[in-house]
Amino acid sequence: SEKELEGLDSKYKELICSLETEEAWSPPCPIRKYQNFWQIEHVLPGILAMQEVFKPRPNDIMVASFIKSGTTWLKALTFTIVHRKKYSFSCHPLLKLNSHDCVPHIEFYYGLQDEQYLETLPSPRVLATHVQYSMLSESVTASRCPIVYICREPKDVIVSLWHMIGRSEMPFTRAFELFCEGRVPYGPAWDHVLEYYTSSLHNPEKILFLKYEEMMNDPIDGVMRLANFIGFPFSEEEKKTGLVEEIVEFCSFNKLKDLDVNKNNGVGNVKNDYYFRKAIVGDWQTHMTAEMATKLDKITEKKFHDSGFTF
Ligand code: A3P
Repeated sequence: SEKELEGLDSKYKELICSLETEEAWSPPCPIRKYQNFWQIEHVLPGILAMQEVFKPRPNDIMVASFIKSGTTWLKALTFTIVHRKKYSFSCHPLLKLNSHDCVPHIEFYYGLQDEQYLETLPSPRVLATHVQYSMLSESVTASRCPIVYICREPKDVIVSLWHMIGRSEMPFTRAFELFCEGRVPYGPAWDHVLEYYTSSLHNPEKILFLKYEEMMNDPIDGVMRLANFIGFPFSEEEKKTGLVEEIVEFCSFNKLKDLDVNKNNGVGNVKNDYYFRKAIVGDWQTHMTAEMATKLDKITEKKFHDSGFTF
């Protein structure tokens, strides 16, 4: 992995190579512990550069999430809400591009040293990140741009995560153990959720905290809250004509997963269809024993006990 880091800014390289490592997820992604969270080694240079350099525009909108928590969906919804006057549903970027191409992850572009691309995007930009709240620079946290965060019940997160990055490398039971220890990309998952949750309580105008399960249960309400929060509320006229329902339908799992662009296209190791699996709340039941579920629930309870937060 030192080899992969060759050619990077040396100050990052030295720092990264000094960090504790967890090789269980390699290949292709060993993780390193930095400021209490496990980051994917090859993404870390991008994260550090983003932290040092990235300055949002005041009208940017940031989508933040722990991995496998509904990022693809929240990106699609936010992008569609923001650009609803610009694009019709019959000729829409999301029909040809995966959500992740419409809403770029800032740290990935910094990592590829292609951050100039972000500057070419017209305002209002919708941008994304997977980093924890405390990793965001003050230029982001003190800026006016709203942050929308989505979290998901941890048992479903680890199942989804294992299908995406662990399945060919290790049995589910091993991935489960690593998840419980917090040793997963961007983990520990609970700490990630807690940071955004607490920040949203302190600063409710800055951070909208969404739950995947709530969005699944009542997507229309979720989309209206989202639109209000990011400053693109629906007019009475739009509501009357059923635009909210249309957006929900357009960004639904069944609609997006069947598009050609989302059927096994994509770059490198991560194919677009990896982002569309089952989208079922409670799918953990098909993968976990009762003991495993209890073990994970206990950790969740303990982690959130003092915060008042529940899934
Ligand atoms: P499952 O693996 O449980 O099916 P992320 O986008 O953060 O990587 O999260 C991926 C999870 O969100 C996957 O969960 C995926 O199926 C689900 N998902 C993707 N698109 C969705 C959509 N439009 N609506 C609801 N869930 C979606």
